[in-house]
Amino acid sequence: MPDTTSWAPRHHVIVAGGAGFIGSAFARNYLRWHPDAGVTVLDKLTYAGNTDNLSQVWDDPRFCFVQADICDYDAVAPHIAGADAVVNFAAETHVDRSILDPDVFVRTNVLGMNTLLRAAKDGWVTSGAANARKAGGYEGKRFLHVSTDEVYGHVGEGATAEDAPLKPRNPYSASKAGAELIAFSYFTNFGLPVLVTRGENTIGPYQYPEKATPLFITNAIEDKPLPIYGQGKAVRHYVYVDDHAAAIDLVLHEGTPGEAYNIGADEEVNTVELARAIVGLLGKPESLMQLVPDRPGHDYRYNLDFSKVLRLGWKPEYNFERTIAATVDWYARNEPWWRKIKAGDYKDYYQRQYGARLASVR
Ligand code: NAD
Ligand code: TYD
Repeated sequence: MPDTTSWAPRHHVIVAGGAGFIGSAFARNYLRWHPDAGVTVLDKLTYAGNTDNLSQVWDDPRFCFVQADICDYDAVAPHIAGADAVVNFAAETHVDRSILDPDVFVRTNVLGMNTLLRAAKDGWVTSGAANARKAGGYEGKRFLHVSTDEVYGHVGEGATAEDAPLKPRNPYSASKAGAELIAFSYFTNFGLPVLVTRGENTIGPYQYPEKATPLFITNAIEDKPLPIYGQGKAVRHYVYVDDHAAAIDLVLHEGTPGEAYNIGADEEVNTVELARAIVGLLGKPESLMQLVPDRPGHDYRYNLDFSKVLRLGWKPEYNFERTIAATVDWYARNEPWWRKIKAGDYKDYYQRQYGARLASVR
């Protein structure tokens, strides 16, 4: 079986998708948490990727950025071969976009995932891990795939632990579940030391303003409606992005290969409560909150049992009150960051997703 002891990298980490929201937080924090580490971000820079998210580390000699598509084996393989670990954040990530256009979700999230795994399997064997392979593992190597609570699908009651069945219901979550299953197959068949994390909804600085929280905050600042799907009763749990990054770091170093780890928050918050907290913090009227036609296939509830990662030693620092306050504060103080995004192609997406919805309730 692969090595299951603590992992101390020698120490170069590939952060795929590191120009996005959580990946950039991980890259920024990783260099702080591990002063001896090197970090290479591999990112295609899709609409969601943004090098501004990495400005704090861009000039750090330990940091490197490579623009590459995770589906392109020749582009990613040399970088992975020379690294000690891969943490894969790269994905198409927005449920609503997956309903509008599923194909790119399957391509990036499933085929891209397989490409990264294959590059690690091939590159790490030829770069000296062959002997370790004979002993049953790629010694000194780790591959962590960042997955989501959405792979469990709608959870009517109770909480899902890591051994609950995967029942994804939209193209995004189905592609993420597919990626996980492929990742575990590399563990089972090739001994690749694969770990998977399944995080709940994450919020904080630099999140592209298509997800509910940054969309609501930026719309409220602009005195635009906050479009709440259905009756606004769907519930989520919100993890602060630096807490999520810390949990991934912990699992990367201390987790057991071949296993999954849920990463969650305690407080259940429905969409109306989320919107109300945001307008309250910004001093805006609740009349901006607007019920609109629902998302098809809406998962009304996720709820993780995340005791396993707590037992591993994760100590989240943010409760919901602190999480939403810090997030609202960042968007209020960083208008140029999101106004630049909202002035671009975003407008077409917004019209496609919300034009008819908002018009239907006026
Ligand atoms: P994001 O959309 O902000 O960033 C995704 C990044 O991946 C972008 O930088 C994009 O350019 C890059 N990318 C997309 N396709 C690529 C390709 N083919 N090749 C290389 N790079 C590509 O996403 P996020 O919210 O930071 O999520 C990161 C990961 O965490 C995802 O895998 C997501 O499924 C998972 N996750 C997100 C949340 C959440 O609430 N945001 C919760 C749990 C898990
Ligand atoms: P979202 O941020 O898209 O995350 P998830 O992937 O968990 O669906 O949405 C969070 C919740 O907010 C979810 O129940 C759907 C709802 N929602 C709205 O009501 N209006 C919106 O405009 C968006 C984007 C989401």
